[in-house]
Amino acid sequence: MVERARRARGESGEIRVNGYSEKWLSKGFPWIYPKEVVAGTPAPGESVVVRGESGAVLGRAIADHGWLAARVFRSDGEEIDEDLLGGRLGRAAALRDLVVPAGTTGYRLVNGENDGLPGIRIDWWSHYAVVALDSPSLAGLLPALVEWLQVEREPRGIYLVWRPDPRDDRDFSTASQATGLIAGHAPAGDIAVLEGDTRVDVRLPDAPDVGLYCDMRAVRTWLADYWGGASVLNLFAFTGVFSVAAARGGATDVVSVDLSAAALERATHNFRVNNLDPDRYEFLAEDAFKVLDRYRRTGEGFDRVILDPPAFSRGPSGIWSGQKDWPRLAAAAARVTNAGGWVIAACNQGEISPREFRGLVAQGFERAGRSAQLLASLGQSPDFPASVTFPEGRYLKVDVYRL
Ligand SMILES: C[S@@+](CC[C@H](N)C(=O)[O-])C[C@H]1O[C@@H](n2cnc3c(N)ncnc32)[C@H](O)[C@@H]1O
Repeated sequence: MVERARRARGESGEIRVNGYSEKWLSKGFPWIYPKEVVAGTPAPGESVVVRGESGAVLGRAIADHGWLAARVFRSDGEEIDEDLLGGRLGRAAALRDLVVPAGTTGYRLVNGENDGLPGIRIDWWSHYAVVALDSPSLAGLLPALVEWLQVEREPRGIYLVWRPDPRDDRDFSTASQATGLIAGHAPAGDIAVLEGDTRVDVRLPDAPDVGLYCDMRAVRTWLADYWGGASVLNLFAFTGVFSVAAARGGATDVVSVDLSAAALERATHNFRVNNLDPDRYEFLAEDAFKVLDRYRRTGEGFDRVILDPPAFSRGPSGIWSGQKDWPRLAAAAARVTNAGGWVIAACNQGEISPREFRGLVAQGFERAGRSAQLLASLGQSPDFPASVTFPEGRYLKVDVYRL
């Protein structure tokens, strides 16, 4: 009787999960959803032993009260302590020391669930670290993370940002843990980051979107040999990192399009710091669909068209939503791509599978009456590893087509 009551309530410091969750946890999946918890009501941030309905220990987790009930850090019931965190951080760092090219100073040092550190991402920007936590429930781990960073990587400063999942509708602005600079000192302004011999100036207070997406580095590397003599249309150009790569690679014309004039200001700056004269190139602060429509009407074509839209955006031509709008975007891009020209289509929405993405783009090409060859299916750089037990880890799909 006592045991039954205890099971229903869950012991303090533990939660019990249903059989469905148990099956996933035993495969190494690190998330527990609220509807999977059958007993136990720990406070957010509490370290809890996870048990199955039979009472068997399934792991140790940090509890949360959001769209997730808990994040599992280990498969035994032992503590989430400095030893565990240090080991995981050390293994993550060893991978980056191996795969980040020499001379590249911006990279993902820790990639959350995929490095055994659920909800925790750490980006490295030259001499600074940005820790991005998916929830304030993880703030209790900060002292250990900061100490490890200071001892092992010696950053000049460490920033903290919240990185709420789009499915998490809580307001993190009221969290007791302050964000911004949490250790060391801030740089005087933007800081220079090198990707090989290309320089990009990033803005740490804008973290996590500092102005350079390192997950796309592998794509820039793959494309590096194919810009020479090409005319390039870079849609959703942001701070112009692809545009700079194209211009440095010998593209003759590069047009960068972004709704945000402020982003394009930074793009022109990035041209300048790479000894490229921005006046020789075009920057259009406009809606991508409007620009594509205008080029279709004027009959101007391009040899390389880059499509890297956000998962969600509201622009003058309406609300962009990936699933609905990819065929329309691919069709409009195909209509302005020269014969033999390439469309580079990038999608970072984990919920769209690689196969579905290729299907959406193919629909667009068909609508435009263009046939296409798939030259490469690329993904995130290796400093963004994906755990095989965490399907959401493989979020980035970049397909290169020749029309
Ligand atoms: C995912 S970022 C692109 C990243 C960029 N390709 C890079 O490699 O750094 C999305 C960008 O799309 C821009 N954007 C959103 N909606 C847009 C629209 N309708 N037309 C043009 N740009 C848009 C945003 O301002 C933002 O800079």
